Amino acid sequence: MKDPHSHVLFGVDDGAQTREESVAMLKAAKEAGVTAIVATPHIREADAPWDLIKERYALVRQEAADLGIELSLGAEVHWRILSGLSPEEAGKYCFEGTRKLLMEFGMHTRPMDEHRKLYELQREGLEIIVAHPERYQYVQKNLEIALDWQAMGCTLQIDALELLGGPLRPSRRCAEKLMRQGFSGIFGSDAHSAADYKQFGRIAKRLPRG
Ligand SMILES: [Fe+2]
Repeated sequence: MKDPHSHVLFGVDDGAQTREESVAMLKAAKEAGVTAIVATPHIREADAPWDLIKERYALVRQEAADLGIELSLGAEVHWRILSGLSPEEAGKYCFEGTRKLLMEFGMHTRPMDEHRKLYELQREGLEIIVAHPERYQYVQKNLEIALDWQAMGCTLQIDALELLGGPLRPSRRCAEKLMRQGFSGIFGSDAHSAADYKQFGRIAKRLPRG
């Protein structure tokens, strides 16, 4: 099983903080049945430490290989940053060797005029993956916003751990509604810790396969 969303690189965002924590995450991921991970550190500032991210990636990739997990590099680019990037600049954050780009919107405020920018990126060949639509308050109130992103060719990525939340939690209800109403996307862990991967192991086998 491949996990397309993980904060496994240490010391570059709010995920793993030390090399030991990265290794603990990899071990828990392996236990959960994960065979491949895309490391997707947050890019939330224009001056994100990309060189440091690449350094950390080289170290953690070796640890992953030792455990039999294939690690590749991507990013989770915030809309605030992405909306100011040219397709060429955005390309640097694509999943290694592909044109897939994982991005997140703000949680509370519906993005302005996002279709135009997404279309501009798509026109240049980028394949947009929208992270955790079920967590956005405006999507929880109106599923059509996320289904429109899907209709324009974006891939929706649900955080699998949301499906383990309390049954009345808005994010869980939203994820379940999306899955009943036309969602055709992918699942990821969005793991920030080894504990998250342990939880992921509980839900991963029950996820529909795309
Ligand atoms: Fe994330």
